Amino acid sequence: MKYKQSLKVLVVEDNLIDRRILESMLLESSDSTSLLKSSDSLAGALQLMSQYEFDIVILDLNLPDSHGEETLLKLNKQYPSVSVVINTGAYEDEVGLETLSFGAQDFLVKGKYNAYILNKALHYAVERKRVEAELVNAYRRLKDAQAQLVQSEKMKVVGGLASGVAHEVKNPLATLLYGVTYLSQKLSERDANVDSVMENMKQAIEKANDIVTDLLNFASLASVEKKKENLDEVIKGALSLVRHEFSRHHISVVKKIEKSLPPVMVDKNRIEQVLINLILNAVHAMPDGGDVTIRAYNRTLSEDLEDMPQLRRDEFKPGQEIVILTVEDGGCGIPEDKIDRIFDPFFTTRRGEGGVGLGLSVSKNIMDIHEGCIFVENKRDGGVRATLIFKVSTEKGGVPNGQEENLNRR
Ligand SMILES: Nc1ncnc2c1ncn2[C@@H]1O[C@H](COP(=O)(O)OP(=O)(O)OP(=O)(O)O)[C@@H](O)[C@H]1O
Ligand SMILES: [Mg+2]
Repeated sequence: MKYKQSLKVLVVEDNLIDRRILESMLLESSDSTSLLKSSDSLAGALQLMSQYEFDIVILDLNLPDSHGEETLLKLNKQYPSVSVVINTGAYEDEVGLETLSFGAQDFLVKGKYNAYILNKALHYAVERKRVEAELVNAYRRLKDAQAQLVQSEKMKVVGGLASGVAHEVKNPLATLLYGVTYLSQKLSERDANVDSVMENMKQAIEKANDIVTDLLNFASLASVEKKKENLDEVIKGALSLVRHEFSRHHISVVKKIEKSLPPVMVDKNRIEQVLINLILNAVHAMPDGGDVTIRAYNRTLSEDLEDMPQLRRDEFKPGQEIVILTVEDGGCGIPEDKIDRIFDPFFTTRRGEGGVGLGLSVSKNIMDIHEGCIFVENKRDGGVRATLIFKVSTEKGGVPNGQEENLNRR
């Protein structure tokens, strides 16, 4: 039989005779096998797999350095995308069947196949693996889309309700603030207590006003004004607005910004707001102080987007140029049972300390409007990494802030 694709095959078999039989069967139809390598141990097999890109491995489970299903599990763990066909001893049908549930695509019983059956099994196994990978990808896309849908529905409901309430509350707040300021000027009997009560009232009103402004942002996001910007400038802008928090909380900021970042189309004020939210979250996570690291770099998305599984595949395509901006802290991290809820409006673990739970949900909304992406994850070595992804602007035209010269050098 003629096959569309000729395969790169690795035979892992410690019995010399069995190995020779397999090799000669594979070489019998040379147009079906384009590369053939052999090993008599798992270590040797892994070594060869690091050198060559095999389509399929014919694997004997019992090798001098590994036994039984362990052999398959170890191989699958390191090379999950390579198809595996198990070559079992005679009368081991049950063992063979079991291996299918551990990730093998098929099994062959020694002495019960010929060159034709072997080649057919290998080609079917490779095809099965390909279809399996497609299915896994489709499932992941579906899950992503479902999560997005749930989130955007939540945002719509909260946004609608909140902006109505916010409008109503803003006017009385303005009256209160005006009144408190006026009274504090007019009060004849002034002492330290009166001053501090007045100041507290003013701060409470301003805080309430900030929350209401945040809520209004849900509704007014349609009016974002995107311009070609360099993220380095946006980062500088955000840092200058929260600098006072750093000394108060003993925080050092470490900036690792790649030179000549390509421009992105953003509303500078909105992205500054996102960055401030992420930076303040990092600051709040480190009550005893520490480092907040801000990185920005640019790259091109790989063919399969495997390295960025969080990206929505309907939004981001392979080959897309992006700028990645991360904010990292060395704080307490987010408990695993809460991490799914952090983008929910009003979800906060800092209720008693001034947290409202709007920072991340507003930030997500803003990133959605920019056709970008935001995700937050615990780092392996402790603390949290928040990541923003921006598509690089392909529009022609200059970048403000005197960045043209830098960009032209790319
Ligand atoms: N860097 C971080 N480290 C630890 N936990 C975090 C971090 N960032 C977010 N979180 C968790 O996610 C929750 C939601 O964050 P979000 O910014 O939306 O609200 P908040 O910070 O609590 O309140 P605010 O509305 O003032 O921002 C936080 O209460 C916290 O539990
Ligand atoms: Mg916050």
